[in-house]
Amino acid sequence: MRKNNLDKSREELIALFSHELKTPLTLITGWCQVLKDFAIIGKLNQEQVHAVNIVSANAMTLKNEIENILDTKKLMYGAMLFSFENIELNKFIQRIIRRLRPVTDDKKIRLVNLCKKRIVLRTDVDRLEQVLTNLIMNAVDFVPKSKGVIKIGITENKGKAVFSVIDNGKGIPKKIQDKIFEKLFQEDSSYRRKHSGLGLGLFLCKGIVESLGGRIWVESKLKEGSAFYFTHPMNTKTRRFSLLKKMRPL
Ligand SMILES: Nc1ncnc2c1ncn2[C@@H]1O[C@H](COP(=O)(O)OP(=O)(O)OP(=O)(O)O)[C@@H](O)[C@H]1O
Ligand SMILES: [Mg+2]
Repeated sequence: MRKNNLDKSREELIALFSHELKTPLTLITGWCQVLKDFAIIGKLNQEQVHAVNIVSANAMTLKNEIENILDTKKLMYGAMLFSFENIELNKFIQRIIRRLRPVTDDKKIRLVNLCKKRIVLRTDVDRLEQVLTNLIMNAVDFVPKSKGVIKIGITENKGKAVFSVIDNGKGIPKKIQDKIFEKLFQEDSSYRRKHSGLGLGLFLCKGIVESLGGRIWVESKLKEGSAFYFTHPMNTKTRRFSLLKKMRPL
């Protein structure tokens, strides 16, 4: 088979597998939530909640990974669609915190919502959630167990919403702070065993944030923690658009 055809078949196969995996994973996380929320089989004891959290957290990590693969491909081929609606940001952050509870509860990590004001933003809610989820899931792996704190904040500045995800983790060496937004980049360190992944999350975050008209950056100090910031225009008039700019293929 010629190389181009081989690449195409490989990509089609990856996309197919990813779709096939996403559906059962969504069901697994959904049912884990139902088990905890509605106590269908009676009230769960501490060990049972712990077990459900582990199942749910791992399914969520895998689902996030698969979504990243699919969406990186969309981004690269200019096939990512955006549709906009008005959302209330502090409620939105609260919802993300609730969704990630299986991941954070089990590692005894505190997720703090610093957004107390009522701010309404017109945005693509799923894409914004994807950016924040990726930033938070990264932080979860680098903060100390039981003492980890991740703060999510939003402020308004000169017509822009400025989002922050700040952790008290191991920090990122200065020399790689620009590189972490590149596709497939991962730091070569002892943390590799604890932090699995493909190196797509931040590349995707950058692509989405920039498509929405903002920018993303990191400030970090070794052994103190990392702060990821990104901006989003307060006034987005569009209702729907697709990214027409093609990037180099994967
Ligand atoms: N909060 C953080 N603290 C310390 N290092 C970080 C943090 N966030 C990202 N990094 C570093 O940046 C690298 C790239 O992150 P990115 O999210 O792109 O990929 P990944 O998390 O390794 O894999 P994936 O997101 O595809 O699961 C990480 O491997 C890690 O070395
Ligand atoms: Mg990541």
